[in-house]
Amino acid sequence: MAPKPETKASLREAAMRALDNAYAPYSNFRVGAALRTKGGRLVIGCNMENSAYGLAICAETLAVASAVSQGLTEFDEIAIATDDSEPTPPCGACRQVLNEFAPNIRVTSYTRDGQEATWTLDELLPHAFVLHQSRGRM
Ligand code: THU
Repeated sequence: MAPKPETKASLREAAMRALDNAYAPYSNFRVGAALRTKGGRLVIGCNMENSAYGLAICAETLAVASAVSQGLTEFDEIAIATDDSEPTPPCGACRQVLNEFAPNIRVTSYTRDGQEATWTLDELLPHAFVLHQSRGRM
């Protein structure tokens, strides 16, 4: 079911505020993200880079980590905001992170100038890897 317009707007605004906090001095590609939990809470994240480039953390992953650290593990939507000219989908690693907790999550990406694109995670990550008992040690 599609979210109410005001619910959608508040998630977009939270992602935009997180975008303002992005720490991306090396790539200059700033990203904000906001998750809405099934209970209606909003949790934000931004990308956080490091002098050791490989340590960069994506906005979406940081939002999920922040939520999990607060005991929140059920999500129904994530908004992503960037300064790019087109809405950017989450990277592959973030898709896998989202899949761990919310395989049915709706993903909406926004630009500053009002463009948006929405996908389901299943569209973005078909045939996701899940560690079933038969695949690993449980
Ligand atoms: N980045 C994100 O925050 N989310 C994504 O889904 C893609 C990439 C960040 C990581 C890095 O700080 C910068 O964007 C360039 O890759």
